Amino acid sequence: MSINNNNRRQFLQQSALGLASAAFPGLLLANKGQVKSSPTRGFNPDVEIAITARQGNVPILKSGPTTRVQKYYAKLIKGPENTLQHLKGNYLGPIINYEKGQKVRIYFYNKLSEPSIIHWHGLHVPQKSDGHPMYTIQANERFVYEFEVMNRAGTSFYHSHTHELTAEQVYQGLAGMITVTDEEEKKLDLPRGEFDLPLVLQDRTFNNRNQLRYLHGMHGRMSGFLGDTILVNGKPNVEFSVKSRAYRFRALNGSNSRIYKLGWDDGTPLTAIGTDAGLLEKPETRPYIMLAPGERVDLWLDFSGRSVGSKLVMYSLPYTGAMPPIFSKMQKGKSSKGMGGGMMGGGMGMGMGMMGGGLAQGAKFPIAAFNVTEKVSDSPKLPKHLVKFDRLTERDVDNAHDPLPIAISMKPMRPMLNGKSYSMDRVLDFERVPVGSTKKIKIFHDHGMKKEEHGEDKGKMDMGSMKGGSMGKMGGGMDSGMMFSMAHPIHLHGQQYQIISRKPGGMRLDEYETVKDGFIDSGWKDTVLVMPGEEIEIIKPFEDFKGFFLYHCHNLEHEDLGMMRQFYVY
Ligand code: C2O
Ligand code: CU
Ligand code: CU
Repeated sequence: MSINNNNRRQFLQQSALGLASAAFPGLLLANKGQVKSSPTRGFNPDVEIAITARQGNVPILKSGPTTRVQKYYAKLIKGPENTLQHLKGNYLGPIINYEKGQKVRIYFYNKLSEPSIIHWHGLHVPQKSDGHPMYTIQANERFVYEFEVMNRAGTSFYHSHTHELTAEQVYQGLAGMITVTDEEEKKLDLPRGEFDLPLVLQDRTFNNRNQLRYLHGMHGRMSGFLGDTILVNGKPNVEFSVKSRAYRFRALNGSNSRIYKLGWDDGTPLTAIGTDAGLLEKPETRPYIMLAPGERVDLWLDFSGRSVGSKLVMYSLPYTGAMPPIFSKMQKGKSSKGMGGGMMGGGMGMGMGMMGGGLAQGAKFPIAAFNVTEKVSDSPKLPKHLVKFDRLTERDVDNAHDPLPIAISMKPMRPMLNGKSYSMDRVLDFERVPVGSTKKIKIFHDHGMKKEEHGEDKGKMDMGSMKGGSMGKMGGGMDSGMMFSMAHPIHLHGQQYQIISRKPGGMRLDEYETVKDGFIDSGWKDTVLVMPGEEIEIIKPFEDFKGFFLYHCHNLEHEDLGMMRQFYVY
């Protein structure tokens, strides 16, 4: 991190949000008092927590040495005893359990030897408490968050959001789960306590000394990190002992780039009661559920009627089409020649999970086993109706015919949004949104070429030019954008949104068939998986808070490569 960057950050924080004050003098000066990071007098928290990010050693693999990780250690200073639920011997931070309406203060201490900041993914909080990269603190500094829990009941996610270090810090362990409960949820007879469990999905690669191995080099970053070891709640080969009744499992995809297709191996369908940070209006049952990085799905897993001794295995089922044509081409090319080393093997190969017996994006693998170990006679019944749901429609927006764009593009080594890379002190004209408005937003792929050309181009890929290992060279002979067209989980900070339409396109039909039944678009969302060629329309309210709110790809390697922008709410 250069001194320049730090200076710029400080400038942004101290000059009443840099750009804003420059572009609209006087408008944001009210924010000035907030930028110094100390507790606010007169803010009386119901919950007070100290969180320290520190290096630690935890046992992850069953045998051999412990693994060095980065970890959130937390202490409850004030608040209900169940606010923090520590996971013993784990790199994951404690589960933080909130109630709607609580006022929260968090002291964040950075005891790493590098900058860091925490983001509360899914929570609707003021800019200053959202983990915007301008608030990244240096080693041994402290940051104070203050907010009120405004969210409805649901599952959220906290993780490092350090400028250009997010992917690596999350990979090293800086992540945890948040739950919020409210009065409406409490009235429902949902599984509680020991029957309400986390299912945090992550993938990692270990070296032969049990240490985490991250990817190096650009090629791996373009596809995103894919590990060969699947961890559930921070452990490999997880088996749950369950009673013959219904459970709530809060699945959270905390992986850097792996997309899971959750399903039972025997074809039993899966039932969801919530997505991202909210309960659904009514449960949805699907043959499988797609879960991209940053997404959550609350699963209703009912083991009623299963006999003691039965075992169910949850899988990530196979699918295709999420990776760019160029990577799958290379995968084929490589397998015929074996796993040779070289530039491609070490870079792209690792990203694809091709090296060291890795797992490709879309491969089938077991996630966790559920062993029925006890028969019980009573179980909550799946409610027909869950919560009151205010469905947003075009009548709620002021730009029905002029949606704000989020255009996805991939130039060699440069995944971008709206044709730009992230820059902390810039917003485009249409990224300025008045507070209190509700906007229609269209997320689509824009690789700078017309649809009809796609098919032709696919056939013309010249893999010969890849041999030199320079992807940059390819740009010359073909459209590099389409070559890199892949699935991107698009996340917007701030309030949850609703998906109003999803139009496929640009993907082969047989490939789309392998994923299309797994999207649950009926609930509140903050992250949506956009498949190649897809166009998705969402409606998002921008209420309550002014300031900078990020939107980005939650493939964390892409985020760090600059596939991130921000709205400026004024
Ligand atoms: Cu979960 Cu801006 O991220
Ligand atoms: Cu977020
Ligand atoms: Cu992406």
